[in-house]
Amino acid sequence: MNDIKERIAKELIAVRDRSLAYTAAEDDLLVRQHSPLMSPLVWDLAHVGNYEELWVLRAAAGITPLRPEIDDIYDAFKTPRKDRPSLPFLPPAEARGYIEGVRGRVLDVLDAIDLESPSPLHRDGFVFGLVIQHEHQHDETMLATLQLSGQPGLVSDGDLPPGRAGGPEEVHVPAGPFLMGTDTLPWAYDNERPATWVDLPGYRIDRLPVGNRAYLAFIEDGGYDDPRWWTPEGWQWRQRRGITAPLFWTRDGGAWHRTRFGRVEPVPMDEPVQHVSWYEADAYARWAGKRLPTEAEWEKACGWDPRARRSRRYPWGEADPGPSLANLGHRSSHPAPLGAYPAGASAYGAEQMVGDVWEWTGSWFHGYPGFRSFPYKEYSEVFFGEEYRVLRGGSWAADPAAVRTTFRNWDYPIRRQIFTGFRCARSELV
Ligand SMILES: [Fe+2]
Repeated sequence: MNDIKERIAKELIAVRDRSLAYTAAEDDLLVRQHSPLMSPLVWDLAHVGNYEELWVLRAAAGITPLRPEIDDIYDAFKTPRKDRPSLPFLPPAEARGYIEGVRGRVLDVLDAIDLESPSPLHRDGFVFGLVIQHEHQHDETMLATLQLSGQPGLVSDGDLPPGRAGGPEEVHVPAGPFLMGTDTLPWAYDNERPATWVDLPGYRIDRLPVGNRAYLAFIEDGGYDDPRWWTPEGWQWRQRRGITAPLFWTRDGGAWHRTRFGRVEPVPMDEPVQHVSWYEADAYARWAGKRLPTEAEWEKACGWDPRARRSRRYPWGEADPGPSLANLGHRSSHPAPLGAYPAGASAYGAEQMVGDVWEWTGSWFHGYPGFRSFPYKEYSEVFFGEEYRVLRGGSWAADPAAVRTTFRNWDYPIRRQIFTGFRCARSELV
């Protein structure tokens, strides 16, 4: 096997170990729906196997379907998450057997496949990149489900570097063009392509994500009760749902606690805030006299190297995200404290732009000029428009295989179960 094939095989094994670890639980926990926002965990598990069958075995290798009768059950577009508990999905033991059977054949295909073939699915192992990233994204979704389940003891914490106080509040990004998106990263999704020159006026962006301490100041200043800070839709949502703090926060006398994977603990003041909706992020930014960065501002501050005039794969360069660079890949089950990754700073000095929390941007999810859907319209194109806001950077629960400076995620502005925070920006005074 050549180097790329070995790397793919390793990534396939790593992501599967991860999926199996998150579903190593009693059947009852796996088949139950913990929130109408989420699928039963065992649905996610067999869905990743079915996706792997559809794309690697059938589309790329032309292999006869193994279990065509279950395709509809695992088609995310046929049944919304809230209705998935009523599907005749495979019970846990059968689901594990099915995905293992698919995986064995996938490794045979990997052995035989020509990665230099002109077919865009085969070239550079794109189809394997597709299923590896897809499975990691479902693993992150499964973590959100486990968090919503409130069940203790399912995920553990590891060590993260300490935070560091001091340093400037904002970094300056001078006016000028940068190349947004990519034409060259082989596993980039269609929505990251093609690369496009974008000319931006100068701006300032927070050096770090907004922390719990700063967010608490917004709460204590009556931020949730003052419609001046909210968009009309955001204010309506906040009123209707009675929202007064981030999801999973509770007030106990004068102290704030959060529930994290079934444990109640004091809100750590030096961590980035997470579990806030776009509406809350947007309101905070207005209260702070700032705004959310546009998606282009976020990407330039994160990935552009103005000296080399090129984009970096990660804020610090091309090196893989080791433990001193970013909090990615579920090293611990929470964001790292603010200032924990000076070595992971971008060319402009912004820190913690990848890892820790996804970051809401002010932009709607649209295709870049010249966008072409690949390998299927339902990956990105059907979500374009003014319904979803773009999130960037990846959280502590995102794997490095599915994180890069050009990577785009999107969700409804009301969503809070995802591991999401934000940072603010402001335009340069002219
Ligand atoms: Fe999926």
